[in-house]
Amino acid sequence: MNDSSQDGRSPPPARRPATRVVTAGRDPKSYHGFVNPPVYHASTMLYPSAEDFLAHRARYQYGRRGTPTTEALELALQEIEGGNCAGVSLLPSGLAAISTALLSVVQAGDHVLVTDSAYGPTRNYCEGILKRLGVTTSYFDPLIGGGIAEQFRPNTRAVFVESPGSLTFEMQDVTATAKVAHDKGATVLMDNTWATPLFYRALDFGVDLSIQAGTKYIGGHSDLMLGTVSANSATVASLKNTVRLSGLCEGPDDVYLGLRGLRTLAVRLDRHYASGVRCGALAGAAAGSVAHTAPGAGKPSGSRTVEARFHRRFGPVQRGAQAGAAAGGVCFPRYARIVRHRRVVGRF
Ligand SMILES: Cc1ncc(COP(=O)(O)O)c(C=O)c1O
Repeated sequence: MNDSSQDGRSPPPARRPATRVVTAGRDPKSYHGFVNPPVYHASTMLYPSAEDFLAHRARYQYGRRGTPTTEALELALQEIEGGNCAGVSLLPSGLAAISTALLSVVQAGDHVLVTDSAYGPTRNYCEGILKRLGVTTSYFDPLIGGGIAEQFRPNTRAVFVESPGSLTFEMQDVTATAKVAHDKGATVLMDNTWATPLFYRALDFGVDLSIQAGTKYIGGHSDLMLGTVSANSATVASLKNTVRLSGLCEGPDDVYLGLRGLRTLAVRLDRHYASGVRCGALAGAAAGSVAHTAPGAGKPSGSRTVEARFHRRFGPVQRGAQAGAAAGGVCFPRYARIVRHRRVVGRF
């Protein structure tokens, strides 16, 4: 994929986040004035001459390496992530984004610290693939904050956080965790799917690689698979190299749907939030009391300061879902089933 820093476009003017998701990454001048980029279905490129081909003299080189469509979504996400983002890679799913980001950091003999509240398949990847490659993983209490220092080993290379955590929704002290990790020379990765960079610009809080399952809120309509990894200047080269060497890319139609979904992210998240809070209240009323750890619920989901760092709101619908699960599945029996099988179930 192309490095967006080399594309020659001038930096965009500062805009509010909700405006930015509508305008970011757009370049109508390149598409005859049309607002959106065309969907490039592309593999082989034709170069003006053999010499140009041999010297790779072209802005785009091969479909897998990036097209104007993929570049538009990468640039849009980069703009939304803010000034600490040095580049974005698109992957075929959220899980592919997680595995690729991890692979871009670790090598045989390394140790990785992963939050106990991580999305289940993240743990499966660590136990199923990283272990086979000689990388060990241990899991830490998501509420441990700066206390994570005690979990470090001499070979700890990376810390993987997810906040709010999947299904249990603890808010991690990402800033404190990142400080400890950086002091010890480790890289910080975050699954930022729940908050999205609209509610939490993870790279501004010390995260080096911020991951999203774009399948969820960016897509927004359950009709695409998409993973994204946003990197800071310390990690972007290794990320891009890992993506390139692995031959990973995202299909053009899903990229386009991702771009289209992104444009309504702000209004959808606001509505999700309102619905989530209402569902949580209904579930609480139905069950008498709800013992959930959702941010703002008065339970130990993380400190107020930590929660306040998230722009406004987080994990909007899931917050309601979690309340339903904790209330015995009154509103969300599926979540209740999943939660009962989690190791961290004791926290409810
Ligand atoms: C928090 C989180 N991270 C990652 C993923 C994986 O995304 P995908 O289904 O696109 O692989 C999911 C999917 O549910 C998720 O909820």
